[in-house]
Amino acid sequence: MSTALALPILDAELEARLRARMEQVEEAMLGHVESEAPFVTKAARHLMEAGGKRFRPLLCFLAAESGPEAAGTTDGDRVLTAACVVELTHLASLYHDDVMDEAALRRGAESANARWDNHVAILTGDFLFAKSSELTADLGPDAVRIQAQTFSRLVEGQILETLGPGSEDDPLEHYLRVVAGKTGSLIATSARYGATFGGSSEEVVEALTAYGEKVGVAFQLSDDILDIASESAESGKTPGTDLREGVPTLPVLIALRSADPVDARLRELLTGDLTDDALHAEALGLLRVHPAMAAAKEYVAAEAADAKALLAVLPEGPVRTALEAFADVVADRSA
Ligand code: IPE
Ligand code: IPE
Ligand code: MG
Ligand code: MG
Repeated sequence: MSTALALPILDAELEARLRARMEQVEEAMLGHVESEAPFVTKAARHLMEAGGKRFRPLLCFLAAESGPEAAGTTDGDRVLTAACVVELTHLASLYHDDVMDEAALRRGAESANARWDNHVAILTGDFLFAKSSELTADLGPDAVRIQAQTFSRLVEGQILETLGPGSEDDPLEHYLRVVAGKTGSLIATSARYGATFGGSSEEVVEALTAYGEKVGVAFQLSDDILDIASESAESGKTPGTDLREGVPTLPVLIALRSADPVDARLRELLTGDLTDDALHAEALGLLRVHPAMAAAKEYVAAEAADAKALLAVLPEGPVRTALEAFADVVADRSA
């Protein structure tokens, strides 16, 4: 695993500390997913070893830098445990998500459902959730409650996405609720755990939790924009998956609001079945050049700016600067 951080950090000491922390997380996670059954270990390690940005543990470590106990205490290294908990929870959700989305590619590798089958993917996801919960017990009852609440928000988000908006719901509001649940929740908890176990004040914990939620929403929106705009070589996933699966995301929802007659064909495509390759390619092509893409990027930039404003509780310095950069990286991914 490379030690490159998914974040440019100007302060050399902070960068060195974070790199060392990320190496610890890699090693610890390999141990945490070990099973007595060799096949289970193999299936659980499959996506972990395939790569991934490790954004959540990185945010956890960075948030911990806001407090005096970022490096652990005589009591143990609860920040490291928390960083493993959030990445394992995320990893588990990817196994399940690829079943739901019928995705064949993840982190540049075959998804577990493609490599084995849906049963293996679902049960490996369950195994990882269980391992993550077991580990959370080391962090005490409050952390267990937070992990459970995070997990239920994540699952509710995924279910609401599957259901789609009700007849009374505004589709854009529904989508933003889905995104906050499925992605904002765990990224908020990554920051919250870091600040908490790093020993920060309640005020900082609250601010960083709110920051994480906003960064998480921006992260998912960026990812959804990239699903339309990117090539799979960049993302390690198959582009256009959301369209194919009929999951409307921000650019689609914005484009559908247009009453401009030039958008009639796009509207027809977007409201129809896009499992056909030619129709899918046509919709993707029209959407890529549509002004809705720029509008969606503006929305993401505003969300990242709101997240950064919440960092005002922190003193100026390398940690705050790095957290600001973290929000920028998330927004700039799709810019
Ligand atoms: C993918 O998350 C799922 C989303 C919430 C968009 P990441 O983009 O963090 O995936 P990895 O961990 O880097 O593979
Ligand atoms: C992933 O959502 C969210 C979770 C895994 C909880 P998506 O389905 O939008 O993400 P990708 O594009 O597959 O990574
Ligand atoms: Mg998916
Ligand atoms: Mg999905």
